[in-house]
Amino acid sequence: METDDPTSVTVLHVTPEMAPLSKVGGLADVAGSLPCALRSLGADARVITPAWPGAAEKARDLGARPLSGPERVCVSLGGREICSPLRVVEVGGVPLYLLEEAELFSNPAVYPEKLDAGTALPFAFLSMAAVECALSGAWRPKVLHLHDWSASLAAAALKHHRLYGAALERPHTVLTIHNLAHQGVLPLSVLDEWGFGPGAFSLDGVEFYGKANLLKGGITASDAVVTVSPGYAGEILSSEYGEGLEGVLRYRSGKIRGILNGLDTASWDPWSDPALPANYHLGDMKGKKVCRKALVEACGWEDSGGPVIVSVGRLVRQKGMELVLGALEELVALGARLVVVGTGERALEERFSAESLGNPESLHFRGAFDEGFARLAYAGGDIFVMPSLFEPCGLSQMIAMRYGTVPVVRAVGGLADTVADADVVPAGTGFLFEDPTPGALVEAVKRALAHLREPRTWARLRGRCMEKDFSWAPSARSYMTLYGSLTDPS
Ligand code: GLC
Repeated sequence: METDDPTSVTVLHVTPEMAPLSKVGGLADVAGSLPCALRSLGADARVITPAWPGAAEKARDLGARPLSGPERVCVSLGGREICSPLRVVEVGGVPLYLLEEAELFSNPAVYPEKLDAGTALPFAFLSMAAVECALSGAWRPKVLHLHDWSASLAAAALKHHRLYGAALERPHTVLTIHNLAHQGVLPLSVLDEWGFGPGAFSLDGVEFYGKANLLKGGITASDAVVTVSPGYAGEILSSEYGEGLEGVLRYRSGKIRGILNGLDTASWDPWSDPALPANYHLGDMKGKKVCRKALVEACGWEDSGGPVIVSVGRLVRQKGMELVLGALEELVALGARLVVVGTGERALEERFSAESLGNPESLHFRGAFDEGFARLAYAGGDIFVMPSLFEPCGLSQMIAMRYGTVPVVRAVGGLADTVADADVVPAGTGFLFEDPTPGALVEAVKRALAHLREPRTWARLRGRCMEKDFSWAPSARSYMTLYGSLTDPS
């Protein structure tokens, strides 16, 4: 039930990354947009996040307005008390609680290469600091909204921590899972070191197969668990997508639901995007042709008129880019040229570099973080491919659709929730394939090319993509309903 008075909703988002102050993946985009969308519905939504290197300067450049003088938050961890300066500033209308302990939050990459009791400390601190603020700060939220394994410990602490577990007035907890593949697995001894009592070692605790599994602790202790698409909420109950936690999740399936992420539609708008050589909208698509020409030229190609297939995203196993490598030859034989933009795993970067060196006329690989070029690729492409092995939500396919670039995606998670197959439903917005094989990808691209050859059909298909509403408002409303059901269960 939605709460009658949205202004009574007070929620603190606990997140390791938040765009534009820090960003590794899509979680940063969500943490950077959702609180603002909740505030526009009347909630008092705030964010607590570490000030990783450079974040304080970025906040300043964005015109951060101090809301209160520097305070301090102290947490006892590993037998010692760690304190961090806490600065509360307002950025883009959202109050941010920045943890500014420079030594603890010194990793510019945010996540360590290897997780152990030492490298996990920043995340344990973030979680406990959020609990401290919620229990004894000047402003006490009714809901703590945790994101991923790295904030999960906050929910577990409110149940099983020797100090916090006994609190009488505790906030409700919501855990959003952005990616089940990352669970925060540590030696079991950290639980004792970090002050957890026996409950943490139980079936309902943090322990999992002899290790401390922070995400499992968050799943069991949180009042509600959300995945970032309804499709993924169902998939993670299976052994194929459950990453070993399917049993834990199945047992708690009653408190799991999927809420599709939104997109920052102001930043991702082909009609106002300053990175594009020409802007366009559904009523006037001339600019898209200009973008296509600019993209082709930026790749060092002559415009042959053949299809341009683009892919923008992290080069990690999850994204299924092996399938693109496997399909390359056949796609080129179909007359297509490919533009791949992304950084990530070294081995994948090297393979794409080698392929593009051997095939410069058909494959352009941009293995550097270049947002301007990524935006040009979204705008200048005809077709967008995203063959993910699994996809909790995915933002790139939504951006591509908004820019009128028709998606060819694997039928998983958020991809299947946001793209409808144009050969199956009249209102289709792209092409889906099931099998995680290069052959299945090629077949789906062939179906897309058949539509592309019919300019009128293609224009209608592209128009349906551009008309889709991916704004945050519907998701924010669903989260408000969820908060209301926890704080006002009547
Ligand atoms: C993770 C997921 C991605 C999702 C994003 C934001 O990066 O892999 O699918 O869109 O989080 O929730």
